[in-house]
Amino acid sequence: MMRILGVFENVSKVVWKVLNKRCNMNIISMDIILIFVFAVICAGLVEGTCPSTCSCVDNSSGSHVNCNSKYLGRIPTLPNDTYHLNLHNNNISTIKAFAFMNLPSLRNLNLNNNKLRSLVSYTFINLTNLNALHLYGNNISHIEEHAFGKLTSLTLLDLSGNPLNCDCSIFAFWSWLIERSSIHIRSYAKCSNGTLVTSLQSDELETCNPDNCQCFNGGKCVAKGHELICDCIGKWTGIFCQESQCTSYDCGFGDCYIEPVNGTAQCLCDDIYVNFCPGLSRESVIEQRN
Ligand SMILES: *[C@@H]1O[C@H](CO)[C@@H](O)[C@H](O)[C@H]1NC(C)=O
Ligand SMILES: *[C@@H]1O[C@H](CO)[C@@H](O)[C@H](O)[C@H]1NC(C)=O
Ligand SMILES: *[C@@H]1O[C@H](CO)[C@@H](O)[C@H](O)[C@H]1NC(C)=O
Ligand SMILES: *[C@@H]1O[C@H](CO)[C@@H](O)[C@H](O)[C@H]1NC(C)=O
Ligand SMILES: *[C@@H]1O[C@H](CO)[C@@H](O)[C@H](O)[C@H]1NC(C)=O
Ligand SMILES: *[C@@H]1O[C@H](CO)[C@@H](O)[C@H](O)[C@H]1NC(C)=O
Ligand SMILES: *[C@@H]1O[C@H](CO)[C@@H](O)[C@H](O)[C@H]1NC(C)=O
Repeated sequence: MMRILGVFENVSKVVWKVLNKRCNMNIISMDIILIFVFAVICAGLVEGTCPSTCSCVDNSSGSHVNCNSKYLGRIPTLPNDTYHLNLHNNNISTIKAFAFMNLPSLRNLNLNNNKLRSLVSYTFINLTNLNALHLYGNNISHIEEHAFGKLTSLTLLDLSGNPLNCDCSIFAFWSWLIERSSIHIRSYAKCSNGTLVTSLQSDELETCNPDNCQCFNGGKCVAKGHELICDCIGKWTGIFCQESQCTSYDCGFGDCYIEPVNGTAQCLCDDIYVNFCPGLSRESVIEQRN
């Protein structure tokens, strides 16, 4: 009996170590069987098998992961070929930056009816296959700059049922959305007073107190004479560095995307980035580049 308890104690110590060191621990003189057990657990954590509380259906598109209504408090570790992720109706209150970076196939992400209050920078970035992002019915009031980036396939961003705070902090998201809503992203983002975010006007920036010197997109607040002004980086312009090159850039038959770091316009023709899309086929654009 004592031996069994001893083994349990060892196991829990190892579990504790694994959790603390995320599988990078140095095990000296540990039972080989236990090492094997934890090698299996570590392999599972790295490769990401179906989370135990969820159900997964695999086909040649990858894994369809359903974690609907499981009281989850955070995003579980997922199979790296997840293309459909349903986290509808859980208890998720925060998502870390780059949380979905290892899921390049992700096409549909459902986070409806969770407890999110804000979206931090780089939460949804480089998900080039993501088509639909459902964030309905959270409590999101704040969206940080660059929370969304390089979502080149996105057509639906459902932010309805969130009380967005439309003070000056909304303008980074607003300018990102304005550039895309005219192209193809449908969004139902509304301010807490019911105004659609896409219907906010650029000159409403004037109501932001310039003394706060809110500069967007990496701009720095500098003193000029007795005034504070925004010193913009890259190709960002405007009194708050809120205007990217896309506001005036001509992409021909392509869509204009901004390089988030420096505001440079890039045109997307089919799936390649160039300076201008003349309305030719992909092959001739590639030829033209060479
Ligand atoms: C995989 O299953 C999903 C439905 O869950 C379906 O939409 C998709 O087309 C399937 N992919 C293939 C390649 O069969
Ligand atoms: C997922 O991980 C496995 C093993 O590490 C790898 O072979 C595979 O290419 C990865 N798949 C994707 C879609 O990244
Ligand atoms: C949901 O999360 C909150 C903390 O964010 C916690 O207090 C609460 O107990 C959780 N509810 C459930 C059902 O897990
Ligand atoms: C996102 O993609 C760009 C290229 O499209 C790459 O330069 C950048 O490193 C990627 N970001 C991350 C965090 O992987
Ligand atoms: C939503 O968030 C606000 C703070 O931003 C908080 O005061 C309020 O209680 C939250 N509502 C719910 C239903 O969690
Ligand atoms: C809601 O708030 C926005 C941003 O502060 C403002 O521009 C708009 O006029 C307000 N709408 C209503 C109906 O009060
Ligand atoms: C902007 O960033 C992109 C990618 O990092 C780079 O290729 C480009 O040269 C930069 N442009 C300027 C004007 O700095």
